[in-house]
Amino acid sequence: MPTRDIRIAAVVFDAYGTLLDVHAAVARHAGRIGPQAGAVSALWRTKQLEYSWILSATGDYEDFSCVTARALDVALAAHGVADAALCEDLLGAYRRLDAFPDAAPALSALRGAGMATAILSNGEPGMLAEAVEAAGLAPLLDAVLSVHPLRCYKPARAVYALATDRFACQPHEIAFVSGNAWDAYGAARFGFRTCWLNRSAVPTEYWLDRLAAARIGTLADLPGLLAP
Ligand code: LAC
Repeated sequence: MPTRDIRIAAVVFDAYGTLLDVHAAVARHAGRIGPQAGAVSALWRTKQLEYSWILSATGDYEDFSCVTARALDVALAAHGVADAALCEDLLGAYRRLDAFPDAAPALSALRGAGMATAILSNGEPGMLAEAVEAAGLAPLLDAVLSVHPLRCYKPARAVYALATDRFACQPHEIAFVSGNAWDAYGAARFGFRTCWLNRSAVPTEYWLDRLAAARIGTLADLPGLLAP
């Protein structure tokens, strides 16, 4: 991604798994789930994403909070957990996820360098607003963009155009950062200057090796990559 000679209109982030830790919800209630907590959290995320892609592929839409609730039902049932109060508490926790510790410092540094910052997320506007506020990120963002008005999910091309529309720019003038390889792939294919945040050092996937996507292991490396 990084060619510092090109103007960056905005640095746009994925929310869940990039700025917000999707596993923080289960972590808060892990004691009520037991040793399967990690597996429940992983399946919850997997099913949430799977349902979003299936809905987009069939042309149907349910907002991301509904998708998240359905995915949790399945993840809990798959592990034999039947506890309505726990389910409700987990969904509440998902609306107030922790930010990763490197999120606020990176956003502050980018804004300090004069760059606009934004979120572009599958989340519906209400859940995004609540999460961003609870995580203390709201004052560090110029825009929070949701797929909701389009009624389809990333990585549909139309979704990425929300960012170019908002900042009235060309795709290559957006620096896009995602911790989700499939999202980084979609963004790079759209023409964004893309950075894949590979926090867990997992193998490269989704043809990202063929695209000019930068890779970082922590958001702390982002300002150095982008700032003039
Ligand atoms: C987001 C999810 C998919 O769009 O990570 O925020």
